[in-house]
Amino acid sequence: MSKGKILVTGGAGYIGSHTVVELVEAGFEPVLIDNFSNSKESALEGIKAILGRDLVCHKIDCADAGALKSVFEQEQNIAGVIHFAAYKAVGESVDEPLKYYHNNVGSLVTLLQVMEAFNVFNLVFSSSCTVYGIPEELPVTEQTPVQKANSPYGNTKKMCEEILADLASSGSRMKSIALRYFNPIGAHPSAKIGELPLGVPNNLVPFITQTAAGIREQITVFGNDYNTSDGTCIRDYVHVVDLAKAHVVAVERLLQNKSESIEFYNVGTGTGNTVLEAIHAFEHATGQKLNYKIGPRRAGDVPKIYADVTKATEVLGFKTTSTLEEAMKSAWDWQLSLQEETAKAKA
Ligand code: WQD
Repeated sequence: MSKGKILVTGGAGYIGSHTVVELVEAGFEPVLIDNFSNSKESALEGIKAILGRDLVCHKIDCADAGALKSVFEQEQNIAGVIHFAAYKAVGESVDEPLKYYHNNVGSLVTLLQVMEAFNVFNLVFSSSCTVYGIPEELPVTEQTPVQKANSPYGNTKKMCEEILADLASSGSRMKSIALRYFNPIGAHPSAKIGELPLGVPNNLVPFITQTAAGIREQITVFGNDYNTSDGTCIRDYVHVVDLAKAHVVAVERLLQNKSESIEFYNVGTGTGNTVLEAIHAFEHATGQKLNYKIGPRRAGDVPKIYADVTKATEVLGFKTTSTLEEAMKSAWDWQLSLQEETAKAKA
């Protein structure tokens, strides 16, 4: 007997696909929505291979109210929604802000309107540590002032949180839990799903694994003149499977009516590592020597940020189960499985 039907927007994406696996393993029935603008349909095959079962995935855009309504009409008894679908490249958002505001903010508003119309009032929202901008204190807690974000991407996440808070204050029956991700990395231990950047990766870890695999010539470390132990930026790298599990707990909290109208949680490890420490962790974990050079800073980068995870630990029972090296090894195993697939396809 399923614990309930959960609609997962962006379900074929990096964090979405890992969360779909954890939802099924926890006894929920996920229904996916994805427009495949930033994910591949092959991710669905990977999820099915892990679970040994089929999946329902509606290929629609969350900003399309008509299409979304028809999904809610087709899918009876949706108990809750996890909303991942959004663009997330910080640099791209600086160049194309309207694309980000339309998609990230527009999709959430459309989704909330359709949810209310169909009496679905439980939402887990994919937020981000980028709402903190450049924090004045570290580690950041959920009470750390949410500054002007450092990019249009971060601003869309901040605006979405404000929309949820305003909805909560309006007396709506909607209950939301916003999970503020730090830096998700790694891949499922089966190496059947993982991060699948389309084109040149924006993020550090897929760039590392593609450089080690020879797909990229060299990785550039964006600046080593920050006020940190080795001059490179500090981030909180959290294993994507640990992050996925936090979504399942958040759904359970909502369905058991334990949450307030709106809640926020930092989901990270509570530990900060520099870019060079991340690179060296990859080399130690995989035995692969990485070809990197030091380059100029990247615009929009936050020098240092890592989480205080006390609240998620105490309230959600969140815990980190992987070391940085284990997470890097899982990312490398996923990269190797992608190479095998590519080689098979060419044979
Ligand atoms: C990490 C560090 C770079 C690439 C990301 C997502 C954002 C949000 C938070 C979800 C930085 C450095 C990177 C490279 C490098 N996720 N770097 N060379 O910028 O922290 O933000 O996580 O909401 O959506 O974009 O992650 O992986 O791009 O960078 O030196 O080739 O690695 O300067 O210090 P970031 P990232």
